[in-house]
This record gives sequence, C-alpha cells and structure tokens, in this order.
Amino acid sequence: MKCCLSYGVAGDNMEITISASDNINGTLILPLYEGVEEIPEECERGLPQGMKSQINRVLADGDFKAKKKATMSLIGGEDGKVILAGLGKSSDVSVHDFRKSGAAVFASIKKVHGNDFTVRFTEAGVGHMAAFAEGMMLRNYSYDEYKMKDEEETDAEKQIRLTCSEKEAEELSTLVNKYRGITKGVHLSRDLGNCPPNDMYPEVFADMAWEWAKEFDNVDVTIINYEQAIKAGMGGLVAVGKGSSRKPCMVIFEMNKDIKGRCPVLVGKGITFDTGGISLKPGANMDEMKYDMGGSATVFGTMEALAQTGHEGKVVAITCMAENMPAANATRPGDVIKGLSGKTIEVLNTDAEGRLVLSDGLWKAGEYDPDFIIDFATLTGACVVALGHEATGLWSNDDDFRTEIHEAGNAVDELAWPMPLLPAFEKEMTDSKIADTRNLGAGRYGGANTAAAFLKQFVPNRDYDKDGEQITWAHMDIAGTYWGAKSNSMVKNGATGVHVRTIHHLITNR
Ligand code: BES
Ligand code: ZN
Ligand code: ZN
Repeated sequence: MKCCLSYGVAGDNMEITISASDNINGTLILPLYEGVEEIPEECERGLPQGMKSQINRVLADGDFKAKKKATMSLIGGEDGKVILAGLGKSSDVSVHDFRKSGAAVFASIKKVHGNDFTVRFTEAGVGHMAAFAEGMMLRNYSYDEYKMKDEEETDAEKQIRLTCSEKEAEELSTLVNKYRGITKGVHLSRDLGNCPPNDMYPEVFADMAWEWAKEFDNVDVTIINYEQAIKAGMGGLVAVGKGSSRKPCMVIFEMNKDIKGRCPVLVGKGITFDTGGISLKPGANMDEMKYDMGGSATVFGTMEALAQTGHEGKVVAITCMAENMPAANATRPGDVIKGLSGKTIEVLNTDAEGRLVLSDGLWKAGEYDPDFIIDFATLTGACVVALGHEATGLWSNDDDFRTEIHEAGNAVDELAWPMPLLPAFEKEMTDSKIADTRNLGAGRYGGANTAAAFLKQFVPNRDYDKDGEQITWAHMDIAGTYWGAKSNSMVKNGATGVHVRTIHHLITNR
C-alpha cells in the first residue's frame, strides 16, 4: 500500500493543558474586547510589571483596537512576549468570534514566540474559551508531506496553557478534548483531499479506511472491490471507474453496528481524479479535480471525529470511489447504463460522473435502515456559480430536515444554504427519450438543482417498498466549499475539511 499520509498526525504537535494557576509560561496570549483601554483587572494576576505597562501603553494609545480577528505581537519587552487578540465588541461576541480569534492567533505565531504559550481570558464562558482553543487546533495544520524537511525544521511541539478558574477547569477540559477529537476528523478529511491523485486513488482510500478501522473496537470497514461491484450490479460506479487502471470500489464504514434500530447513513462522492472522461475537461485548473473525492473525505473525517469523541450510537457511511479517466474502454456519451436501483441512465456527458457513482451509493444506503441519508459531493460547477465559496448547497426531500442541517451548520459556522428541489427539475432529469433518467439537464441553467433532482431518483423508499415513503434525505454540494474558500479563517490553503464539524454536531445533538 502506498501511503502518503499519516492520518490525524497533522495537528498533533500541540498540547493544550488547562490550568488554574497564575503563572505565565512563555508567550502570553490575551484575547481582548474592542474598546478596552487597559488590561482588565481579572487578567493582571502574575503579570510582570514591564509587560503590564507595555500592554497598557498600546491599549491606551489605541494602537490595538481589538477588532475581530486582529492580532498584535509585542516582543520587544524584557518581561516577556505577548500576542494581543481581538474579539470585537463584547456586546455581540459569539463562540464563532472566539474560534476565529484562536485561529488568527495561531496563524500569527512565529518562531520568535517560542513553543510555550499561556492564554488568559477576560469575561469568557467555558464555551467561549473552548472555542478559542478549537480555533487554534483547527488552524494548526499544514500539508507538507511532499516537501523535503531538515531534521531541525520539524515543528517542535507547542505547549498551550489555557488559564481559567478552578471550578471551570473540568468542564473546559472536557470540551477541549471533544474539540481535539473533532479536529482530528477535520484534519483527516483535509489530508485525504490534499493528497495528490497519483497517490490517492480508490484502492489507497480503501486500504486507509481498513487500517483506520483496526484502531477502534466499534468500527467495521467493508470493501466492495471492482469485481464484486460488477457482480452486485453497481453500474453507476463501474461506468465511471472502468476507464481507469485504478479500479473503482465502494467502502462501507459501520460504527456500533450491533445497536438495533435506525441510524444516520452518510454517502460520499469519491472521485479521486475527475478528468471529465471522454467529455474531457479543459486544461485550466484541472489539477484541482484531485479534490473531487471531497465528499468521501468528509464522510471518512466525520467517522474519525465520531470515533475520537466516543460516539455511542450507530452510524453508517458509504464512500463511492472511482477515478474518471478517458480510455478506450471508458464510458461514452450516449451509453445507457443500469445501476443497483434497476433504473436506466442515459449518460449524455461523462463529466457528470459524481451523480452516477452516488446513484449506487444512495440506493445501497437503503439496506441499513437509515434514519436519514445525507450525501456529500463536489458535484457541480453550477453550485459554485450560485453560492461562490461561501456556502454549501443544501437540498432535501424534507423541509424540517433541511432546516435542521442548516442550523447545525450555523451552530459551528459552516454555512449550508437551502436550495430548491423542484418537480420541474425532476421532470427535466427523467425525460430521456431512451432511458428512465438522463445524467444531464436539458439546458445550461440550474445545473446544481438538476443534479440534486437526479440524485433524488435514486433515494430508496423505506424497505425498498415501491409504494412506500421515500427515506428522509439531504444532498450537500460542497464543490465551492471543500477547497478554495479564501474567507475560511480555519484554513490557510488546500482542502478545508468542511462539514465534519456540522455533521458531528448534527448527529451528536439529535
Ligand atoms: N467535479 C465536477 C464539479 C466541479 C467542477 C466541482 C468545478 C468543483 C469545481 C463534476 O463532476 C462536473 O464536472 N460537473 C459538471 C456537470 C455538467 C457536465 C452537467 C459541471 O459542473 O460542469
Ligand atoms: Zn465531472
Ligand atoms: Zn466530479
């Protein structure tokens, strides 16, 4: 097995401890509210006089206004180094501001600050303090597996001490541990996405999932390989992946599988590279299509977050892995295929491949008696046209469920914006002259909506009962948010790992 990544390691070079002591170790980090003109009294404990006067001078002169996400380093004084961090106005501060401030502080850390830090908060609840730590942990990520590194250059472990009162310590420590686990999931999703496509292909993803599951007693991974996929009738997955020398597979994760009853089922689009196939993409930015497995990375990362935080409920995840290549034996525009559902699909454009692999993943999901199904996919350029890089497109066959996901996203500051699943779009995707469905809309408009409407055709009814009710389902198009989001404060560059936190929140708060 080729392995370009060691999951969960990025971000592990930071130790966060909780302390009620007055001592200041290393560089002092001071999150402050806008308008403050001197060090708040509750922060003064243990501060050397020189440090205190240096900070007070900067605040009194208005040189640091504590605007949201602002930072300022004071490194000249003999009494130690300080990073001032802005939280904005105290009247409207939220956990998101604390998280962003933590991330901004982490991004501003230079060698000169050393490796020891003490954070001292003013007027902050335990949730706020934990969010600040979460921001630091999330931002503590860089993908440099492929860069030559000197021994000395390797990052030394950073020690971060969060100071709080004695009675807050236990609760803070529990929350920080939870965020540490979730961050591992986010970083795993980012590692998977950032890995170059020559080293990240379906079999590698499957091997990684297999190895990963060995670490946990309560997780099982099943791999449906190419031959098995053909036998099982996974015509969508096979049609997309057959033109590549790296054959497709489906990877199924089951957590706490012995628990009885319904469970969430997550489904991921995992195109490890999308050339467009015979409907070849133009050359510009084609390299970015290595991120086209972002849906599967989200799902794998979410399972890691759930496992790391000791989730006790049952959860299933299905990742549909394939590489979309042009080849003599690749699927052609005009081909008609049949997948697991038994419905036929007229393939009018081989670049609309995500929906083909998902058609099998969604149908397969029905086997696990889902409470609900959510799929994640870098599905359409049209979604990026509609929402830019600021929000994920969110569709559902259940308005309340869509609202629930939207709210889970808001709770962790990962926007998922409601989009319409209209009957007209379904009609457009089912009026093929020759098959039950077509993988391309009739015109150029509304491409993200027609894609969602296509997926809906493959969401099974409960117990596959022809006359039954369709299982509650949502589709999240992360084409604009899985990478390239410059305004995401938790991310410097590359894959974002978006929605691991949203779905962890959704599943664990239900
Ligand atoms: N993976 C792409 C979608 C994509 C494009 C994501 C650009 C992020 C940035 C997907 O497989 C695709 O190519 N979709 C086509 C669909 C079209 C042929 C109906 C698209 O969006 O152009
Ligand atoms: Zn494509
Ligand atoms: Zn694609």
